[in-house]
Amino acid sequence: MHILAILGSRNPEGQTACACDALLSGAASKGATSEKVFLATCQLERCRQCEDNGWGLCRTEGRCIIDDEFDLITEKLRNADVVVFANPVYFSGLSESMHAYLHRLGRIGWIREDARPGIEGKPVIGIAVAGGGGAGAPECVHPV
Ligand SMILES: Cc1cc2nc3c(=O)[nH]c(=O)nc-3n(C[C@H](O)[C@H](O)[C@H](O)COP(=O)(O)O)c2cc1C
Repeated sequence: MHILAILGSRNPEGQTACACDALLSGAASKGATSEKVFLATCQLERCRQCEDNGWGLCRTEGRCIIDDEFDLITEKLRNADVVVFANPVYFSGLSESMHAYLHRLGRIGWIREDARPGIEGKPVIGIAVAGGGGAGAPECVHPV
């Protein structure tokens, strides 16, 4: 089993990475392999809402017109058996990099049926790491 961990924190030594590592090391003890992607350090634009009507190639071709690391990350996601989305709670929600990635993934994964293989039905684990006592975590994942 291969696990792709997508992190919305940029800190490989931070709390989000630490929680993610605990999960991955448990999985590794049962033979799983894994890779981590730190979204904030990737070249990743936000959705451009390309056309005046708000649509774009995502609607007609099931792909994104922006030439950055989105396709590379999404190819890794398609090839993984399980995906972990690990996110530090920012302003009671997802981090900016996680928002950017999920908004674009949503456009290609939800609009066109032919773009869904490898995305739809994928087992997903969500991790939210809040500051203080951790009470912000449920708020963060509620709208996802
Ligand atoms: C910009 C920013 C906004 C934050 N907003 C919240 C928040 O609304 N609620 C909360 O509980 N923690 C908040 N925090 C704290 C982080 O969620 C917490 O420190 C988290 O552990 C950081 O993860 P990291 O160590 O992987 O960077 C915020 C931190 C930052 C940098």
